[in-house]
Amino acid sequence: MEDPKADETSTPDWLQANPGYNATEDSSAPSTQNDGRDSTSSSFLQRLQKIATIISLLLSPISIILVSLWVSQKAMGGGGVSWKQGDSGRVFNWHPVLMITAYALMNVGVLVFRASGTSAYQSSLASSSAEAYSRKRGIMKSIHGTIWSLDFIFGIVAMLAVFKSHNDPISGYIANLYSFHSWVGILVLSFFTLQFIIGIASFSGLGGASRLGTPLLMEIHKYTGTYIHILATATIMLGIQEKEGFIGCSYTVNAPDLFPLLNYGLIPSACKISHGLGLVILAMGFCTNFALARFPAI
Ligand code: HEM
Repeated sequence: MEDPKADETSTPDWLQANPGYNATEDSSAPSTQNDGRDSTSSSFLQRLQKIATIISLLLSPISIILVSLWVSQKAMGGGGVSWKQGDSGRVFNWHPVLMITAYALMNVGVLVFRASGTSAYQSSLASSSAEAYSRKRGIMKSIHGTIWSLDFIFGIVAMLAVFKSHNDPISGYIANLYSFHSWVGILVLSFFTLQFIIGIASFSGLGGASRLGTPLLMEIHKYTGTYIHILATATIMLGIQEKEGFIGCSYTVNAPDLFPLLNYGLIPSACKISHGLGLVILAMGFCTNFALARFPAI
């Protein structure tokens, strides 16, 4: 039988498999050279990645504030949220609120290892003992798993909200799954669910599965997780664009609109907020993707 304590003090398989990991230097502690880089340009890139991580984490709560502000606008089904029949505009508002909250949480969830210095590619825990490293990494794994579980629930309720708002006999029926956003949305939800199930089956230790999985599975998990984050970024962009089309963001002009910046004030305020929200999501997508990148030694 496998000793459950064994993998808490020994070096994880995937960390040993990391090309930069120096097992001879210390067979249990994380290596000081575990990313195989020591040149100035490489450490400059690592510093940039740290800055990107911080920016992205700061933008997470900002995106939740912005989406809350957006749905409180009159143009958004009267403003606010509801779960009542006959109030489909406000029932719908749960959809962006929950999806963007889930995205903001996912953003934290995918960055916890980098932010805490417990990613296999980092050397920031070089001075800490293997025990301290394992304990810290264990906490990060719990946060990571809890966030993905919360996201799963938020995604389900967000989908219920949009289907409920489209199938309301009092407010009037609206077709389902007709837009490009909804198709890409189904794709991202399917990938997310698959990643979630495989993640639980491979890394949770449930059902006798190895808590650490295999290095191959870990690499695939990291790659697909990053891809899902990018896909979710794109889906939110499409969703915002879809809703803006219903609100109507344009203004009337009686002459060629040669200096659109001068007419900025004519754009409805709900659209200004959603444009800002979209830009924040775009920035989160970029910063997180950059923070998670594994650059070769240069
Ligand atoms: C990753 C996040 C998101 C996913 C996975 C997602 C997924 C979906 C899906 C599958 C539908 C189809 C539901 C139906 O047809 O009844 C839908 C509808 C919709 N979503 Fe999203 N959504 C996301 C975020 C957003 C955001 C942030 C907005 C911004 C308001 C939004 C706006 C809409 C709109 C307007 C509809 C109804 C029209 C349509 O079917 O396209 N979505 N979404």
